[in-house]
Amino acid sequence: MFTAKDFIPTNYSKTIEQGNFQWTAPSNIALVKYWGKKDNQIPANPSVSFTLNNCKTITKLAFAKKEISTVLNETGEKFSFDLLFEGKPKEDFKPKIQKFLERIEIYLPFLKDYHFTIDTENTFPHSSGIASSASGMAALAMNLMRLEKELNPNMTENYFYQKASMLARLGSGSACRSIKGEVVVWGNHNNISGSSELFGVEFPNIIHDVFKNFQDTILLVDKGEKQVSSTVGHDLMHNHPYAERRFAQAHENLDKLITIFENGDLEEFIKIVESEALTLHSMMMTSMPYFILMKPNTLEIINAIWKFRNATKIPVCFTLDAGANVHVLYPNKNKEIVLQFIQSELVGYCQNGQYICDEIGTGAVEN
Ligand code: PMV
Repeated sequence: MFTAKDFIPTNYSKTIEQGNFQWTAPSNIALVKYWGKKDNQIPANPSVSFTLNNCKTITKLAFAKKEISTVLNETGEKFSFDLLFEGKPKEDFKPKIQKFLERIEIYLPFLKDYHFTIDTENTFPHSSGIASSASGMAALAMNLMRLEKELNPNMTENYFYQKASMLARLGSGSACRSIKGEVVVWGNHNNISGSSELFGVEFPNIIHDVFKNFQDTILLVDKGEKQVSSTVGHDLMHNHPYAERRFAQAHENLDKLITIFENGDLEEFIKIVESEALTLHSMMMTSMPYFILMKPNTLEIINAIWKFRNATKIPVCFTLDAGANVHVLYPNKNKEIVLQFIQSELVGYCQNGQYICDEIGTGAVEN
């Protein structure tokens, strides 16, 4: 069994003075939700997600070796880096990156040897209510692994992607599912071989063709700042009256999805996916303190989807993140009619009529 220690390198065979890389990493949408964690970003239950294709972060990492690696810079920071968002310095993102670098330093001992310029942008509109932490941390982790690969060119492809996912996890849990593969599992599950709580793995079993190019149209109901940060949210599961039952349910739902992915039973798929979304929100409503993250328009959309599905028998369903926006999931072959339905009946519930068309993608790429 893998342990985190396996990702601590011994020594590097190569050196590199300076250079730059650029990686693009997508967001992902969980079908079985990760909600609740132990120390070191270890999930309390396994989760599975579809990797997205269009909602992405593009991050360029420039690096240059410093003269003396251990000298603290003037502000007393351990790491030397500049952070640019859409080409402009963004000071308020720096503490998060600083914390991330501190957490991963043990796995990437070269970090203090370099000055980094991290230049990042998202393909989705800023403050759209779509979290960029998954795609952002995944893109940064890929760049840092790319640099480690220069120092250790013999690393295997498996090690490269697993470690990238592990590093991303330490930035933001769900980011570990944004590295590689269309359907990604994170967390130990008895019946999914290779599953790990340290990193995300591609779902290893058969996936029915009906899930090919599965569509996710994201309806932007509320673009405001998150009411509950995910750190606070996960903490709500400590001493939560229903926590243990919920964690067991996630295992059961993943078991059901293994069969559903194989036989393509969309009716059963919808039951699991919608129940997971509502369970996530129920956990928030029944914690102390308690929160309602759905907005009236979230419910309007859910009801409209149910009505449409009942009337047409088209297998369209919804899922939710820890917020008010709605992800509308449906097979590629129903794209035209579902988009028509969204445009005629759901757009009115979106803030400024905004929505984003996305679909299943394959993971991070170097560009
Ligand atoms: O990665 P975090 O810590 O922001 O948590 C994300 C949690 C959910 O998006 C609500 C569910 C999930 O599995 O992605």
